[in-house]
This record gives sequence, C-alpha cells and structure tokens, in this order.
Amino acid sequence: METKRQTGCSRRDFLIGAAVLGIAAGGCRSEGGLFDFTDGAPMHGFAAPKLPTIRVGIVGMGGRGKHFLKRAQLIPGIVVTAICDNVPKKIEASKCILADAKKPPAREYLGEEAWKALCEDPNVDVVYNTTPWSLHVPVQLAAMRGGKHVFTEVPSAFTVDECWELVETSEKTRRHCMQLENCCYGEVEMLTFNLARLGMLGTLTHAEGAYIHDLRGMSRSEWPGSECWRFDENRDHGGNRYPTHGLVPLCLTFDVNRGDRLDYLVSLDSAQENFKAYMEAYLKPDNPRRAAAMKMHDMNSTLIRTANGRSILVQHDVASPRPYTRIQLVSGTKGTICNYPLRIALEEKTGDGKAHMWYDEKRTAEIQQKYRHPLWKTMGKLAKRAGGHGGMDFIMDMRWAYCLQQGLPLDMDVYDLAATCCLCELTEKSSTHRSMACDIPDFTRGAWRTNKPLGIVDIDLQKMGFTQDRSAHA
Ligand SMILES: NC(=O)c1ccc[n+]([C@@H]2O[C@H](COP(=O)([O-])OP(=O)(O)OC[C@H]3O[C@@H](n4cnc5c(N)ncnc54)[C@H](O)[C@@H]3O)[C@@H](O)[C@H]2O)c1
Repeated sequence: METKRQTGCSRRDFLIGAAVLGIAAGGCRSEGGLFDFTDGAPMHGFAAPKLPTIRVGIVGMGGRGKHFLKRAQLIPGIVVTAICDNVPKKIEASKCILADAKKPPAREYLGEEAWKALCEDPNVDVVYNTTPWSLHVPVQLAAMRGGKHVFTEVPSAFTVDECWELVETSEKTRRHCMQLENCCYGEVEMLTFNLARLGMLGTLTHAEGAYIHDLRGMSRSEWPGSECWRFDENRDHGGNRYPTHGLVPLCLTFDVNRGDRLDYLVSLDSAQENFKAYMEAYLKPDNPRRAAAMKMHDMNSTLIRTANGRSILVQHDVASPRPYTRIQLVSGTKGTICNYPLRIALEEKTGDGKAHMWYDEKRTAEIQQKYRHPLWKTMGKLAKRAGGHGGMDFIMDMRWAYCLQQGLPLDMDVYDLAATCCLCELTEKSSTHRSMACDIPDFTRGAWRTNKPLGIVDIDLQKMGFTQDRSAHA
C-alpha cells in the first residue's frame, strides 16, 4: 500500500515541476493564487472559486448537527438547504429550528441511506457531516464525488487506508475535505499558537495534548442525546480512538505538514478498571453491556516523534473519575504554556530562572489579554454569545465560511485530517503489540518540506455582512 501511494509522489513532483515551468495541465489559477490542476494536484493551499452564498446540507441531526444548524443561522451567507437523518423526530426538531429562525424550509432526507441522495443534491455546495463514526468516511467520499466540499466531525477517519482514500479523492475531485476540529479555535489554543508564532516560546521542542473526559455515563441507556453508538466503538477498539482534540491544535502550532511532520509513534494502554466498575454499579444485572469485553483501556498514552525531532504526548481517557482536560502544553527554549488551568512561564534571558515558576494569575491574565489571537479579538464576544464549547465552534464555522466566501485556502486541509486520524489505527496497533514503534505515513508525499506555515489569520466581519461596530463583537 505504502509503495503504491508513493507512486503519487512522483506525479506530484511532476505537477510542481509543471507549475514552475508554467505548463497549465488543464487547470487555471485559483483565487488564492495557486495553480489549480484538475486532477491529482496537492490540496495544500488550495482555494476554490468564491462562494458568496454557501448552501449547506447537514447529515446527522443529533447533538452536533442540531447545534450547527442553530449557529448557522447567525452566519451571514450560510443557507441550510438540506437536512438528513434516519430518525424522523431528529428531522422534525431541525425543522422547528429553521421555522423559529424564520428561515425557509430545507429539503428533507429521511432514511438510512438518504445521505447518498443529499450528496448528489444540486442545491448543496457543502456537506456538513455530523454522523456517528461509522458513516464519516462513506459520507465524505460520496460528498466529494458528488462535487461538494465536505466538513466532518472528529475523528473524520479511522484507518490509514481510509485516510489515503480521502486524500486521493480530495485531490482528484478538487474539493475541500476538512476535519471540524473545533479545538484549534479554542481561546487558549489560539493564544498558544500566537505566542509560538511571535517567537515568545523560542524554538519549540515538546507538546502534550489529551482528551480526558469522564464519559462512563455513555454506557447507560438514559445517557443524554443518542451517543450510545460511541460506547460500542470504545468496546470494540483499543488505543486512542479520539486523538484529534488534543493533537490537531498542537500540530498547527508545530507546523506539521508545513515544515515538520509526524514521523513515528509508540503507544501504551493502562489497566482497564473504570468502565467495568461503573457498569457493575449502575447497570441492571441483565443489561448485556455488563458482559461487554471492552477493548478500550482506561488511559492510552502515545508518544510521537516529529521529523524535526520534537516530541508530542497524546493521551486518551474517557473512563476515569478525573476532571476534564485537553492539557495543551507547549514547551520551547524560551518558555512553556499549559492549560487547565492556564499557566505561562517565560524566560526573558537564557537561564535567568524566571521560568522556574508559573507566572502569577495577574501576569498570566495580562499576557492572555495582550496576545489574544486576532480571531478572538475580532469576534470573541459574538462567539461567546453564539456558544458552542465556549465559542470555539462558532469561530471555526465563521472562519471556514469566510474562507469559502472570499475564495481563500482553508486553515486545515485533508492532509491535516489524515496525519492525525490515522492515529486511531496506529495507536491500537502499537499498544496491542507491546508498544512497537509505528511509522506515521507522510500523506503530503514530501510536500511538508515546502508547504507554507499557517499565518496569524483573521476575518473581516464587514465583508461577511456584519454591520455593527467591530468593538461590539470583540
Ligand atoms: N467537536 C466536538 O466537540 C464534538 C463533540 C461531540 C461529538 N463530536 C462528534 O460529532 C459526531 C456526532 O456526534 P453527536 O454527539 O452529534 O452524536 P449523535 O448520536 O447525537 O448524532 C448523530 C446523528 O446521526 C444520525 N444518524 C445515524 N445514522 C444515520 C444515517 N444512516 N443517516 C443519517 N443520519 C444518521 C443519528 O440519528 C443522530 O441524530 C461524532 O463524530 C462525534 O465524535 C464532536
């Protein structure tokens, strides 16, 4: 498989060579200024033609789909033209949201395989995929093949082969395939990115991220929402089945796929005690879940080494009685930042000992205020009012909508999706084989060496149709 994919590398090299020589291989220059070949060219930096009005079809009107439907009503230029679920009451609840917002009704797709028709709907430009994990890849492939850009909840894929298929389909169809990793737009994640970009942490060396969230309640039938499918996924898989919340923001800060790349990993599972104890305490004796042979262990710890020699620790624990954390520690030669709670320690001069202790609350708050990321400066207030994990969901949606409307490349692409989602398979493989080292494929096929890093981006609210004074949203 690896060898076959490498064949794509030589084709890519040819296309770059063609671009340098000015040979237009059947494509044209995009709004973003990059050559846009029709078939198989890299998608990094790809910009699609401007879409002033974005017609969105949502597949999966559960927790995430419904929340996006509400947020979408606040974003000028987004029109939800189609909704899809296999459960009638989910469609009914979504219709009420549109009616309450006094928006025109969306076309309804009801049924187990109705998403296939939505992916062919000529009135849909973007498929917003908020389905359970088993449908993530099929919906993405159908959407791109149907000519739509596709945004998918996390993790967007689960195996190395699925990741390659998404990469190749995005390249072939010239459609965006982005993972909806909302945590990249978290206030502290963006502060970290900003401090790193401004050089305040020095040369970056190490990072730590996690998804530590007590979700034992999902084994009970009265669990809020309908996320019971997630219990089955955790029963059937070990390793880290949910690596992206902790990892993707760190990858953006480390310029992964844009100057560095994830090279290899080793992964280790802990004991398995908490789900079992919880189920014994709360589930009725005849509940078949009590007999479930869980493959997921309480804690999975994975260490990744990057091509440039940095290390990243990623952890997953949805079983232990522990407070929520994504950790978000980034360390460099001039200092360290860490969240939960936010702590910062910076050296002003090498070896001055100032970073031996975290700054006090006052100094930390001053730095947080001074180095807030521009996206949070521009619309922090608006985002907090709109909600969605403290506002980061709204900022993420605003940002991709802005990029599509203005014909700009998106902040994340299919290579970011692939490099992080392949950990689902690789961590399971490593942890079940005595933590053997596993190579992480280079989905960019060498382009990571020359891809441009993500800049400190912003949004022009007026261009999006917000009329109020900018300070009202900051
Ligand atoms: N980014 C985040 O912060 C975050 C938070 C929670 C969940 N998630 C992710 O979002 C996704 C959805 O999670 P959720 O909590 O909304 O789950 P959910 O179970 O509440 O929603 C899934 C919806 O998909 C529908 N569905 C199932 N099969 C279908 C089919 N064949 N056709 C159409 N619809 C179908 C279900 O009826 C349900 O309404 C998951 O990938 C999850 O990992 C992300």
